Amino acid sequence: MNLMEAVKARRSIRRYHATSINDDQLECLLSAAQWAPSAHNRQPWRFTPLRSLSAKEALADAMGGKLRADRRKDGDDERIISADVQRSRARIVEAPLVIVVSMSLSDMDQYKDELRSNAEKVMAIQSTAMAVQNILLAATSIGLGACWMCAPLFCPDIVRSTLGLPADWEAQALVTVGAPANEGKPALRKPIALMTHTAD
Ligand SMILES: Cc1cc2nc3c(=O)[nH]c(=O)nc-3n(C[C@H](O)[C@H](O)[C@H](O)COP(=O)(O)O)c2cc1C
Repeated sequence: MNLMEAVKARRSIRRYHATSINDDQLECLLSAAQWAPSAHNRQPWRFTPLRSLSAKEALADAMGGKLRADRRKDGDDERIISADVQRSRARIVEAPLVIVVSMSLSDMDQYKDELRSNAEKVMAIQSTAMAVQNILLAATSIGLGACWMCAPLFCPDIVRSTLGLPADWEAQALVTVGAPANEGKPALRKPIALMTHTAD
């Protein structure tokens, strides 16, 4: 599969066969991530691959507790909350591989003013997102399905304590990976012309 084929074939795949992900496949995904561009080439991405059921359950249950608490504060119906928490848990636990993606500001430049500090943080987030895109494309290219889930973004402290991550690792997302059990939702994209402002 060449690059444009992978770009267009990639879909968010949320259901997987139970087949496990082997070390070579994991290595392929992380190696693709490693070669992403990053601001100042500081490579702020950090990865925590989870393949054991116990690790996936621990993470899903810890994040589920936070989701439930947040939704109760929103005043949502208890049955709808439980269904959503259960659905999110199943997606994590049933994925053969979960890669928790964090970023660290430890190697980024430091500034005294808020504007440049914030810009530096945004650069780290952008760089980490590029690494994730590489994971998603690499997964497609080797016949795997994957999906970005933003849940860790809402509870980085819980993710850090549950997984024993270093203090400077800030969870951004998780990527579920496995052999695809379906084709994903239909590919829908808005016309490029709607998203383009020509200024030449
Ligand atoms: C930043 C980001 C956050 C996302 N978060 C979630 C998520 O929490 N749950 C989910 O099912 N999909 C999530 N997705 C996947 C999007 O829903 C998906 O990319 C979009 O619907 C387009 O579909 P496609 O990836 O199949 O082309 C996320 C994607 C991105 C880039």
